Amino acid sequence: MRFVSAENTAYRIPMKPSSLRDSMSRFATGVIVLSVGGENIHGMTANAFTSVSLDPPQVLCCVARSAVMHKALMAEKHFAVSILGSEQEQLARYFADKKRPLGPEQYDDLAWEPGIRTRAPLLHGALAWLECELSELHDSGDHSIFIGNVIEASSGAPGPALVFFGGGFQQTGTAGT
Ligand SMILES: Cc1cc2nc3c(=O)[nH]c(=O)nc-3n(C[C@H](O)[C@H](O)[C@H](O)COP(=O)(O)O)c2cc1C
Repeated sequence: MRFVSAENTAYRIPMKPSSLRDSMSRFATGVIVLSVGGENIHGMTANAFTSVSLDPPQVLCCVARSAVMHKALMAEKHFAVSILGSEQEQLARYFADKKRPLGPEQYDDLAWEPGIRTRAPLLHGALAWLECELSELHDSGDHSIFIGNVIEASSGAPGPALVFFGGGFQQTGTAGT
């Protein structure tokens, strides 16, 4: 089956990664901090995150194969998600910064607690938290897709969400208002 007419030469130009980045920057997403506990304690900002299934409850996150988080997830096989609120842009920038300390020191000046099911750090002030056990891993290009069974979910006070759109941080209104 052909999707592109012979006359439409624009579609024949080879795809550049920057074109995908530009197009995807128009897709507004929430922002999470993915975390792993235990000996491999680590956090990483991500927006390639979505729910997958309600029954069984599953979510996925795409993680660069080059990320420290990739190794940490493979080792611990459990993870947590903190869904960031609009006031948490600084945290999103911190957990995306390669210069942040690694290991437990990474969390030294932050308000957090270990998840009851996974021991993975849950950030105080987030809109909601999930705890997951890794159920599937799919390698795809320079990322891997980590699918987790959600084994605990909780929500904090309602408030505006942190949003990533057009290459920058923005905020939504409060859910349900
Ligand atoms: C808004 C935002 C969203 C991001 N989303 C992802 C993502 O979904 N997956 C990913 O692998 N990296 C993502 N990153 C990049 C990582 O946060 C960044 O490379 C981080 O330093 C990797 O950490 P690590 O190598 O210490 O684990 C995102 C960065 C930002 C600012």
